[in-house]
Amino acid sequence: MDKIQINGSRKLQGEVRISGAKNAALPLIASGILVKGTTVFTNVPRLMDITSIRNLLEDLGAKCSFEDNVFTVDGSGIHKIEAEYDLVRKMRASILVLGPLTARFGHAKVSMPGGCAIGARPVNMHLSGLEALGAKITIDHGYIEAKARRLVGNEIYFDIPTVTGTENLMMAAALAKGRSVLRNAAREPEIICLADALNKMGGKVSGAGTPIIEIEGVDSLEPAEVRVIPDRIETGTFMVAAAATGGDVTIKDCNPEHIGGIISKLKDTGAEVILQEKGVRVKGGPRINSVDIKTLPYPGFPTDMQAQFMAMATIAEGNSIIHESIFENRFIHANELLRMGADIKISNGNYAMVRGVEKLQGAPVMASDLRASASLVIAGLIAKGTTLISRVYHMDRGYEAIEEKFSCLGADIQRIE
Ligand code: EPZ
Repeated sequence: MDKIQINGSRKLQGEVRISGAKNAALPLIASGILVKGTTVFTNVPRLMDITSIRNLLEDLGAKCSFEDNVFTVDGSGIHKIEAEYDLVRKMRASILVLGPLTARFGHAKVSMPGGCAIGARPVNMHLSGLEALGAKITIDHGYIEAKARRLVGNEIYFDIPTVTGTENLMMAAALAKGRSVLRNAAREPEIICLADALNKMGGKVSGAGTPIIEIEGVDSLEPAEVRVIPDRIETGTFMVAAAATGGDVTIKDCNPEHIGGIISKLKDTGAEVILQEKGVRVKGGPRINSVDIKTLPYPGFPTDMQAQFMAMATIAEGNSIIHESIFENRFIHANELLRMGADIKISNGNYAMVRGVEKLQGAPVMASDLRASASLVIAGLIAKGTTLISRVYHMDRGYEAIEEKFSCLGADIQRIE
């Protein structure tokens, strides 16, 4: 298994280009199931998760191609409605085929996505939403089965905003008979990207980006060409790395509109953030101030940026309190940061008190999930000495060519086979 080796304490300087967003590309590719024909997605990042969803769609009978960041899905040949355990277990977001399969074929069998390192990750709201649209849901031998002659539009209320839950039900409602209203819907930019795509295919979706999304069902959707939005979490990861190393980095091809919460917090730490047309420049301040963080649904501070900020907080001046309000076990990276000399105390599972220390020391560490691996890269970049990160397959799921990108910014980082 690959490892990443970093010799730290170098300031990052220069320019980096952001890839398309993994969490936009995955629902978009799933939406290709809704269309009898070939839908084209551009700016798709080359990631393990994209390979996983491609394998799943091809197993269902779709024809896919992926070259030069252009991914195509021909859904006309889909002949299977069962998403098998062996494929779903590799990526929880496979649940995103449930809504489209039920909407187009009136029948879907999808393996229950297990939990993961950061939490139980239940899908109850996905299922109750489909039931509201008239699907009969049964769970048997680890599989969800959804059946409906034709889905019928309805009101759906989410107890809490769910990103993939909102996406699954938007796609299901798009082909339902009549009008649906999703209330307390997630508001992430990836939701807007999917709504724009469904409308380009002939769907009738309004209100995406607000807590109330209205969908007028249509009888069919047509092929379209859709561009994936920039990855706001990759953007934030490079912003934090620039500030934490005291560097000066310009991040291109990103969308500053999508990272308000990150910019605000980064400025509080003392970094200078200069907005540009399709970019943002981050310059590390003379010191790093401690800040308090609470993760929230968009447009609040993103949970996917919590681990990266914690890495920077380990060398801030003073104490930072981090409240992880979305997932029940998203501090695994803290144990590895402690091994590098950080001073972190976790209380009742979702509060972390980070006391700033002078310096981290490089050490062998282990990645546990996608954003934890990004946290360990940032820690390696700021530490004194060499850090060796194992289980980097976690990182390859969501970051395209990350060591090349950091090398171009002057980091001493290399992948060891
Ligand atoms: C999406 O996961 C992202 N993944 C996650 O990114 C991200 O952390 C998360 O949204 C929150 O922003 C993709 O988009 C593929 P949720 P998702 O449903 O949709 C609870 C990454 O690093 N919940 O918004 O699975 C759930 O347990 C990944 O790229 C239910 O209780 O998250 C959580 O506490 C990690 N029942 C909260 O809601 C449900 O039916 C928000 O989860 C669904 C969710």
